[in-house]
Amino acid sequence: MTTSLLRAGIVGLGIGGEHARGFVRSPHTELVALCDSDPNRLAQRAAEYGVPPELCFTDYKTMLAEAKLDVVSICLPNALHAESTIAALEGGAHVICEKPLAPSLFEARDMQRAAEINHRRLMVAYNHRYRADVLWIRRMIAEGRLGKIYNAYAWWRRETGIPGSGWFSQKHMAGGGALIDLGVHMLDMTLWLLGFPRVQTVSGHVTSYFGGRGLKVWGSPRWVNDASAEAFSVDDGAVGFLRCEGDLAINLHASWAEHRQPREDIIRLELSGTEGTAVLNVVNYVRDGTLHFYSEMAGEAVTVTPSLRWNGIYGHEALIVESMAALVNNQPAPADVTHGVIGVQVLEALYASSQSKREVVLS
Ligand SMILES: NC(=O)c1ccc[n+]([C@@H]2O[C@H](COP(=O)([O-])OP(=O)(O)OC[C@H]3O[C@@H](n4cnc5c(N)ncnc54)[C@H](O)[C@@H]3O)[C@@H](O)[C@H]2O)c1
Repeated sequence: MTTSLLRAGIVGLGIGGEHARGFVRSPHTELVALCDSDPNRLAQRAAEYGVPPELCFTDYKTMLAEAKLDVVSICLPNALHAESTIAALEGGAHVICEKPLAPSLFEARDMQRAAEINHRRLMVAYNHRYRADVLWIRRMIAEGRLGKIYNAYAWWRRETGIPGSGWFSQKHMAGGGALIDLGVHMLDMTLWLLGFPRVQTVSGHVTSYFGGRGLKVWGSPRWVNDASAEAFSVDDGAVGFLRCEGDLAINLHASWAEHRQPREDIIRLELSGTEGTAVLNVVNYVRDGTLHFYSEMAGEAVTVTPSLRWNGIYGHEALIVESMAALVNNQPAPADVTHGVIGVQVLEALYASSQSKREVVLS
């Protein structure tokens, strides 16, 4: 058990701001250093979190060399995850890396190896596990109320959610589009809730009918830059079918753009079990009324609509607080590197299947 506070640093200060809140909230860490190649963003976050100029860096290698960090969050564009994570691990820090762990399985395995060789932990920022409604489904499964789960539908679908032509929509920087960005969360949420059954085969079909035409670009200026739609080189929609051990099928659907209700953004998970079906339906990030549980009682169909209290901490804040507690108490990390590697492996196989138009068997 460590007694002094772990010194934390963050590289990349977009979603990295959420990591900052987690490190501030955790009783085991102090947020001491920040890095972003954009000096304006760096200055803004430094002011927000009271980080002094001598611990603010535009180059992460300098930060790793000078700031004596115990833990580093990597919140850079996907293509930079492997190099920066491995540098941090070799520098002696534990790492929380944003999702997807890497754009390719090759890089993900390199990162895993670096963690093993350097005896450091590598964790993945799967923050969507930490919603009160998702955690409720997890408890329902643990109590056996769904029985044997045989089918899962996992969606994240947006009507207008294309990240413009910034790095998210460029294959060499992101590795993929809607599937790698949104699909990875739904895949992880499903596999995690189901106890990580082994995925045996996958079939994928990815499409790109909007981004290349400059359509359905996310409304906030942060997501738009002045590059043209021609720079768009990733999928803006994807479906997948996964066969898993234990007679389980998972249907995955991720889209940044499609014709549906204006601005609609739906996270939906249906888990069908022999004793009950749990449905999570989050429309436009609402918290209330997202859950239904269907079963039978005394010979009649019943519908349960739980009212959750949402009185804890959630999302990145909860993920980081729990990850840091696990680290100092020598407990398994809640979202370990192996979960990151599995996600990348399945996504890569879905892209390969789409390209070959064949089912892919996972080794
Ligand atoms: N878990 C989630 O829900 C979630 C949400 C959003 C993004 N993400 C992930 O987080 C990562 C970052 O996404 P984002 O939305 O914050 O992107 P972003 O573009 O908003 O932020 C990335 C930041 O990194 C900085 N940067 C780029 N190259 C750098 C370098 N070499 N050195 C230092 N700084 C550099 C940029 O200036 C920028 O401020 C991605 O992997 C993305 O998939 C996860």
